Amino acid sequence: MRKVLPVLTLVLFAIALFLPLSEPQPVSGQAATEALTTDNDAKTDDLFNGFGAKGTPIDECVNEPVAPTARGNGRFEDNKFIFSERETIEDGLGPTYNDVGCVECHQSVDVGAFGQQMEFRAGHLVNGLFVDAPGGQLIHARATDSDIVEHISTAETVKAFRVTLSTLGDGFVECLANATLQNNVAAQPAAQRGTLTSVPVTEANNTLRIGRFGWKAQHASLVSFSGDAYLNEMGITNPFDGSGGTQENPASTAEGVINVTFPSPFDPVPDPEDDGDDVLAFADFMAATRAPGRQNPIPAAAVRGDSLFNAVGCNVCHTRTFTTAAPGTLINGGAFAVPAALGNKIIHPFSDFALHNIGTGDGIVQNAGQGSANQIRTPPLWGIRGRNRLMHEGLNVTIFDSVQLHAGQATTARNNFNALTNAQRNDLIAFVLSL
Ligand code: HEC
Ligand code: HEC
Repeated sequence: MRKVLPVLTLVLFAIALFLPLSEPQPVSGQAATEALTTDNDAKTDDLFNGFGAKGTPIDECVNEPVAPTARGNGRFEDNKFIFSERETIEDGLGPTYNDVGCVECHQSVDVGAFGQQMEFRAGHLVNGLFVDAPGGQLIHARATDSDIVEHISTAETVKAFRVTLSTLGDGFVECLANATLQNNVAAQPAAQRGTLTSVPVTEANNTLRIGRFGWKAQHASLVSFSGDAYLNEMGITNPFDGSGGTQENPASTAEGVINVTFPSPFDPVPDPEDDGDDVLAFADFMAATRAPGRQNPIPAAAVRGDSLFNAVGCNVCHTRTFTTAAPGTLINGGAFAVPAALGNKIIHPFSDFALHNIGTGDGIVQNAGQGSANQIRTPPLWGIRGRNRLMHEGLNVTIFDSVQLHAGQATTARNNFNALTNAQRNDLIAFVLSL
């Protein structure tokens, strides 16, 4: 068993090396331009980045929202409305779920952004290897029937919360070529180098692409993430949920694992519960949002802290700048062509989208192999001033304490931070809180 691991790691590494072949390099042509940004003020109507049509705000008394039939052919306002809808049992909600709509969690400061909600994962070790809790590692917080609310046993010793991430600007992240992420990681000092993962793109017959979304970089495309979230957060089966829209999550109860898929007594709705239209609406809504913009005006302390961020080495993992692939480039295993609104755009996500071990790992393995148990993706810091529950569990409330938790591959950066004067540390924190 133990020999399998290094071999698997090698194979994954080899796959990662060859991936760029399937994604053409951006063609140089017209110069890249800065991506449009939102001011992070929900009172301003400035979320739309120009991908697809904007449409007009939906008033349900007058017109129903219309979902796209293919990526990019719907309207932003309709997609935003669908992202904001609350689902019911008749729509397929549950039987186990975490909340009733995407916006219930992704809401602050604007639709699509952060939330303090956490999801919960659990499992245990067998011969040192992580194994999911019976019925699956995701332990839902809610159910449509108290008989199937999930309760794990004390045998599940590996447990972790995950706080909600923002999805604003994620269309630009989706349009980063594999090679762009690989070149960035290759330039990192060996001791701090991130690990890129290759994950299946559900809408492209599980073709592998470099993961970039989620605390474990567990997804590479917004359709794949949305299909997964529709099932795993809300219990709505769909063609992009990873099992072809046929299976609900079984419920882990004190009496054992209970199958709750239709036609069980717990689920009145045949599968798939969504034909995929809603999933396209979610993906296109997020893809059409602008990138989080800087605080405006930028406070003097943040201006002073700007260069310190690089000086102490935070930028090694929290990469400041990327340029998206050229318009027309085929990505997501060929399922999506980079649109003009998202191509050749300069973004400042402050993340390398790679996994690192900085000593905070939660022991949970998703789709990046046992070696990823204690690795976490560098979270993008753009928009972080709109969030006050920090690190993957959301149990940290200050930037200072978050930096103190940086160990392992981030030890040097943390030590450099601590070697600054008190005034410099405050300036660096002011800089982070201006992102
Ligand atoms: C119960 C709260 C909750 C609901 C409901 C929810 N999410 Fe999330 N979302 C989360 C959490 C928590 C994460 C981080 C999960 C992780 O990476 O393990 C997340 C992460 C994401 C990400 C990754 C963002 C990034 O940049 O890495 C996307 C995309 C996303 N959600 C889309 C959706 C969509 C679409 C829906 C509706 C179908 C949805 N979410 C519903 C809580 C929620
Ligand atoms: C070796 C890579 C690495 C370096 C260097 C690094 N970080 Fe991080 N950073 C991470 C990872 C990985 C996480 C997520 C850890 C977790 O959630 O368990 C993180 C999380 C954070 C968070 C919390 C973000 C959120 O959304 O909750 C902040 C803030 C942060 N880092 C700031 C900094 C600052 C400031 C520095 C420089 C002093 C720095 N980081 C250096 C990898 C790094």
